[in-house]
Amino acid sequence: MGAFYLFSYWFGFAILCILLLIASAFLGYCLYVKYIHLKYDHIPGPPRDSFLFGHAPTMIEETRSGRNLHDKFLQWSEMYGPVYRINSLHMVIIGVTCPEATKEILMSPKYPKDKLLYARLFNLFGVRFLGSGLVSATNHEQWYKQRRIMDPAFSTLYLRGLMGTFNERAENLMDELTKLADSKKEAKMHQLLSRVTLDVITKVAFGMDLDLVNNDSPFLKAIETCLKGMVANLRDLFFQYKQKNRPFIKEVREACQFLRTTGEDWISKRRTAVQNGEDVPKDILTQIIKSAGQEEEITKEDEDLMLDNFVTFLIAGQETTASQLAFCITELARNPDVMEKAQKEVDSVLGMKQEISYDDLGELTYLGQVLKETLRLYPSAPGLSREVSSDITIAGYDIPGGTIQMFDTYVNGRMDKFFKDPLTFDPDRFHPDATKPYYCYFPFALGARSCLGQKFAQMEAKVVMAKLLQRFDFSLVPGQSFDILDTGTLRPKSGVVCNIKHRDQ
Ligand code: HEM
Repeated sequence: MGAFYLFSYWFGFAILCILLLIASAFLGYCLYVKYIHLKYDHIPGPPRDSFLFGHAPTMIEETRSGRNLHDKFLQWSEMYGPVYRINSLHMVIIGVTCPEATKEILMSPKYPKDKLLYARLFNLFGVRFLGSGLVSATNHEQWYKQRRIMDPAFSTLYLRGLMGTFNERAENLMDELTKLADSKKEAKMHQLLSRVTLDVITKVAFGMDLDLVNNDSPFLKAIETCLKGMVANLRDLFFQYKQKNRPFIKEVREACQFLRTTGEDWISKRRTAVQNGEDVPKDILTQIIKSAGQEEEITKEDEDLMLDNFVTFLIAGQETTASQLAFCITELARNPDVMEKAQKEVDSVLGMKQEISYDDLGELTYLGQVLKETLRLYPSAPGLSREVSSDITIAGYDIPGGTIQMFDTYVNGRMDKFFKDPLTFDPDRFHPDATKPYYCYFPFALGARSCLGQKFAQMEAKVVMAKLLQRFDFSLVPGQSFDILDTGTLRPKSGVVCNIKHRDQ
């Protein structure tokens, strides 16, 4: 009996000690959070939702309820000025809309991509996603090596050679639209454009002929699911621990796995072709294989890096351009005067010609302005962040080192202080004689880590839009919302459903 009491006494004492330890650790952490608040609270910002979680509940709620989080950032930027503070636990993010600081930080290699946010793109709920590929690599050496190898697949000379594929794939879309116009059926433009951009990237980047325009591809669903998973994982640190999210997390894992398994298959086919001495294109896949090291001896790490870049190019190259095109169509349909002007330009440059040349693209200047203006209001990939480890002064505020600075081209693009009547769609803002926006417009990012596919995307978008304007009149089926779906990238919430008619030329 005595032994039992002694055991109970010691057991109770041990539990008490553990509880005291946890309580002191928690108290210590709270004191640290308080210290962080004191350190950064001279920077303006919205009131925190809670002491510990800071502004995270607002951000989670915006995402959960399907609103565009960038509108909240816009509201905070308007209310609190060129720098505002966001807290979450002990972390501080500074939203910046100061052109000088945007220039200084994004253009300088001194400020790397921040490890906290980009590390969350490495895995999605335990399955490797973008890993250490080009977009998410935070280690400079590792990124630089990959970028140097990849550059030739994006040189002007190489891209000029892709005009045939851009034309051919866009023609498939025109054939589909012709059928819809003839049968007077509605065209779900966002879906059709997503198939075209997937068709282009799989052909151009990976040498695969999927001919997707008439079919639904499991890729599109998988890409969408991964992006939704990515945004949930980025904005809610506890997302994966909530029971109710289990079915969705399973879906995301499967989607991610599907993309990587396809990558494995395609890479293996290409490597076999190389080993058999077959003539293979010098495309993105060839560069991906090169960037992973010696083709003879492939380590597990090499294998992973190749798949990281496979998924990176599939996602970066497909979703962004499809959304830009879909938003562009929406704005043209809402602004008949802009549509008419763009059509006139296309008629005078192309006439009835089917095969658009690289030089024709240079002459479609107004169409170029329309596409730029589309990205001002609807940048497909709006947010960037950088790690600022040393003290810095922005717009008169001393910001101690140790923050993540966030730059948002959507926010800048919709601010009156940078663009007069920001919600008016006006391509003349980008007229060659107009003053260039000063570090407040960066849909393809800025500096060394800017978009590698910028020229590729601009060529592809121009070819598709030029053919569309040359052949068809389109109007939006009434009753659709103009809302934006924020899945990390921005896409139209409606399907951009249009009535299509052949043009009377
Ligand atoms: C309208 C179309 C596009 C937009 C708006 C866009 C935008 C961007 C932005 C903002 C970034 C920086 C992302 C970050 O730092 O987190 C980026 C990076 C990148 N984009 Fe694009 N992109 C587009 C199309 C493309 C296409 C078609 C490709 C490939 C064919 C591509 C490949 C890449 C790559 C590889 C990077 C990483 C570059 C690096 O860090 O070295 N993008 N893009």
